[in-house]
Amino acid sequence: MTKTALITGITGQDGGYLAELLLDKGYMVHGLQRRVSSEPSRRIAHLINHPNLKLHYGDLSDTGSLMKLFDLHLFNEVYNLAAQSHVRVSFDMPEYTAEVDGIGVLKLLECIRTLGMTEHTRFYQASTSELYGKVVETPQSETTPFYPRSPYGVAKQFGFWTVKNYRESYGIHASNGILFNHESPWRGSEFVTQKIVQGVVKIAKGEQSHIELGNLDAERDWGHAKDYVEGMYRMVQHDYGDDYVLATGELHSVRELVEACFDAVDIRLRWEGKPGPDEIGVDENGNTIVKINPDFYRPAEVDLLLGNPTKAKEVLGWKPQYTFVSMIEEMMQFALTN
Ligand code: NAP
Ligand code: GDD
Repeated sequence: MTKTALITGITGQDGGYLAELLLDKGYMVHGLQRRVSSEPSRRIAHLINHPNLKLHYGDLSDTGSLMKLFDLHLFNEVYNLAAQSHVRVSFDMPEYTAEVDGIGVLKLLECIRTLGMTEHTRFYQASTSELYGKVVETPQSETTPFYPRSPYGVAKQFGFWTVKNYRESYGIHASNGILFNHESPWRGSEFVTQKIVQGVVKIAKGEQSHIELGNLDAERDWGHAKDYVEGMYRMVQHDYGDDYVLATGELHSVRELVEACFDAVDIRLRWEGKPGPDEIGVDENGNTIVKINPDFYRPAEVDLLLGNPTKAKEVLGWKPQYTFVSMIEEMMQFALTN
């Protein structure tokens, strides 16, 4: 029997990869998209005419559009990927972020519950390593206490506990994927990996003089989105709903990322000055190619995130295929040729 899935956030990075994965498996895929004035997302442009894909206008801040969708279709699986997903922006739009990233989760679960679908619809929530924020232990696992450091992290904490509560209260097959940073050629250009990749390629092509960044010493556990959507799928197929960390277990700094990208285009980068707002990166000719702009600092920073994915490996048989190096190589190659 053909399974039917709903993906909220289908126009985002993960939504694009997940739509590809589910369509390949023969699913009927419904996607929630916001009405925007520009063209629909490039990430699903190649899927738009797929006979098993149907897009619906809606918004996580609009309960009516969600209710209508659940009323008209029987979803076997719901993947809630929609979010205001930028941590820095959440400090500028805290209320909106709370509404979409926190209350939005509750709205979807209430649609499932009030329409009597608790035994028929499985639910995946895009939880995040940002829940660990100012980390209390390293590496972080499913048992590490949370300490969110941004309106985004706080809103996602509400979503995390709501999923757990609906699982325990109503027996819904609902899972939290606590995903560490994951990137790809489809990553939004305002996230640090893509910003660096695209900036370095423009510098190499002579189209831009320098890139401006914030905290170079933040450290992250960066994986590839393609591996992580496979993990989401496996959580939903498992016998019962649960919470899982997906991570690579490898730690790199923003500084290392900058160095790796310049290295990939044969530009020798040298750092000058003390770490902080006055530090610069220069090339072999003395040109400044990296500057620090304090506008990109956050009111409260998450210094280090490093995940322990043992549970996902043991219970779901999940293992990332990409390494930090192969992920950067793919992003650089894509930026150089597109
Ligand atoms: P993304 O590229 O920013 O995509 C976010 C998606 O949510 C887009 O489709 C966006 O639509 C949609 N959206 C935003 N506000 C909405 C609203 N009010 N109503 C309906 N849809 C809305 O994010 P991503 O990297 O794919 O991440 C997917 C999910 O995983 C997010 O929930 C994110 O918080 C979470 N997460 C991501 C990472 C990561 O490293 N990528 C790690 C952990 C958790 P538009 O295209 O119209 O903007
Ligand atoms: N965006 C950005 N821009 N970040 C910068 C910059 C810059 O110019 N300079 C330094 N950084 C640092 C940030 O301060 C942060 O410590 C780190 O680079 C990563 O920033 P982002 O790429 O914006 O990602 P994030 O870690 O804040 O959030 C992403 O990962 C979360 C999972 O841990 C997002 O995808 C979230 O949605 C996701 O939940």
